[in-house]
Amino acid sequence: MKRGEKVIFGAIAAVVLGLMGRNLWHIESDPVRQGDQGIPFYTTASADVSRRALQLIHQQGCKQCHSLWTVRDMTQNVPAPILDGLGSVRAEEWFYQYFSAPDPQSILPSRLKKQYRMPSYAGLPEQDRRLLASYMASLKVKDWYLPETRKAEYEKLTGKTYQP
Ligand code: HEC
Repeated sequence: MKRGEKVIFGAIAAVVLGLMGRNLWHIESDPVRQGDQGIPFYTTASADVSRRALQLIHQQGCKQCHSLWTVRDMTQNVPAPILDGLGSVRAEEWFYQYFSAPDPQSILPSRLKKQYRMPSYAGLPEQDRRLLASYMASLKVKDWYLPETRKAEYEKLTGKTYQP
């Protein structure tokens, strides 16, 4: 190998290793345990359900648009809702219907451009849609977080102290 080739080869290897490391970090940094300190989000799912669901979410590229466990693909910037804590707001059956809908926007309307909208997952096997729904429903947010967020937003917007 010539010297120039070595440099190019080395650069490519560095990029590939960097990408691999980043993906690994994404997987490693998904907290599957309940009640991680400092993060208001937690899951009630078993370790097994979490592992299988996160694998599916990874395969399906949900994090190209959504953030989950406060991690998302930094190369994308789709204004999609954060998935953390959603199970405190919606029921498992709702998620199942949503993932199974040929047109998810008939359930949740969208103002986004077509390529940014929630795609239909009606084509996934039923057990995968069930798994996703059960995992989404397990994503909870601690009670104190919602009032705290509301308070912070109110005070930022108005400059006044929040009185519930
Ligand atoms: C192309 C970007 C994109 C991808 C990929 C994507 N979503 Fe979405 N998703 C959205 C957008 C945007 C919305 C908000 C509704 C809309 O605009 O269609 C949404 C809405 C949702 C909602 C409803 C949120 C709420 O407010 O209740 C859930 C749940 C959801 N997505 C889960 C997933 C899961 C799980 C995957 C992977 C299997 C996924 N999404 C893949 C863009 C995406």
